[in-house]
Amino acid sequence: MNTPYIIDDQEGGRFKVARNTFTSQEVFEQERDRIFQNCWLYLGHESELSKPGDFVARSVAGQNLLFVKGRDGVIRALFNVCPHRGATVCREKKGNSKSFQCMYHGWVFKNTGEIAHLSGEPAYEDNFKDDGNCDLRHVPHFDQYAGFYFVAFKKEIEPLADYLAGAKEYLDIVANQSAAGMEIIGGTQEYSIGANWKLLVENSVDGYHAEATHATYLDYLMNTNGSLTATRLAGKGHDLGNGHAVIEYSAPWGRPIAQWIPMWGETGKAELDRVYAELVERLGEDKAKQMATLNRNMIIFPNLVINDIMAITVRTFYPTAPNEMMVNGFALGVIDESDWRREYRLSNFLEFIGPGGFATPDDVEALEQCQRGFQSAANVPWNDISKGMKAKTPSFDDEVQMRAFWREWNRRMTSEEG
Ligand code: FES
Ligand SMILES: [Fe+2]
Repeated sequence: MNTPYIIDDQEGGRFKVARNTFTSQEVFEQERDRIFQNCWLYLGHESELSKPGDFVARSVAGQNLLFVKGRDGVIRALFNVCPHRGATVCREKKGNSKSFQCMYHGWVFKNTGEIAHLSGEPAYEDNFKDDGNCDLRHVPHFDQYAGFYFVAFKKEIEPLADYLAGAKEYLDIVANQSAAGMEIIGGTQEYSIGANWKLLVENSVDGYHAEATHATYLDYLMNTNGSLTATRLAGKGHDLGNGHAVIEYSAPWGRPIAQWIPMWGETGKAELDRVYAELVERLGEDKAKQMATLNRNMIIFPNLVINDIMAITVRTFYPTAPNEMMVNGFALGVIDESDWRREYRLSNFLEFIGPGGFATPDDVEALEQCQRGFQSAANVPWNDISKGMKAKTPSFDDEVQMRAFWREWNRRMTSEEG
């Protein structure tokens, strides 16, 4: 592409993104190398591996990985690829196992990744498996922050804690909602969208679209007795550095941690008061208030979204083509919450966030409409992301968070090192 990807006119308060960044095959291929091979990418949450032997097989940027807790209690990220001739070793999505057997020629690996049984061993040299040559390979970089595990494939990469920059503070808020910890609940929402992956980055932190796109859901809440409080939608957007960003805002809906709505009755109120008092005692008044009463939609560059709204969703997505992505969404909850709080969290996860719910289908429709609009990119070439560009403290429904993402995306896509 000869035209720039973005126009960042800070003086004039104008920010434009070229629409062919969403349609170009060349950009799609460069993203594979410059973005997905070069960044820390989310693999999974510590709660998914509670016991030795627990494993989750997951695809990250098109690579099959095994996220596994070994019999030694150590959590590892291994390539789920046979060192012999390349077959996928573990073909189950999750479970608990002492070992994994490759279906092709029967090599068996311990849950630490070491070879346990080399079929036909006498035909190999005596020391054949002593140098690790027969073990499952480790992902080059693997680290965690606040229970969120990440991998990176590049040889040289900054430490995860540096990479996460200002996002750490907000990950802490999501991770500390109970002294007992947080857990991924149940299975995965998996769906595809006929749109470029960067449209979902924008949409996941877009406070500007709710009233128009989600009018049906807001109507539904307004017509459901006791489902709202008097709190109004208000808040800020923050650039967290390195392409990460968050919007943080108050909203009238209930939050099981811990914003009460009349629907939950007096007993519910007494319980949430106790939950709130515990937060204040553990974290102080300011943090407790921020955690309980403010919603957060966060993007961790390039493709981890954590939306701590009514329920909490942890979501990743990868492009399969310039105009298609695969999405995985997980529900995160407080480990020791009561049944009714858990039920509200999960029904919200289905009813608002789920692919068959009240919100995501509307978002999907909006994204697919944009992708269709980009067919005219040659004639109508630019997206506009200027809202609130001159604001001292950008509002949650401005577009500072999208500009943060795009500046980092552009830097990586155009830097000399590649
Ligand atoms: S490819 Fe796995 S044992 Fe041969
Ligand atoms: Fe939305």
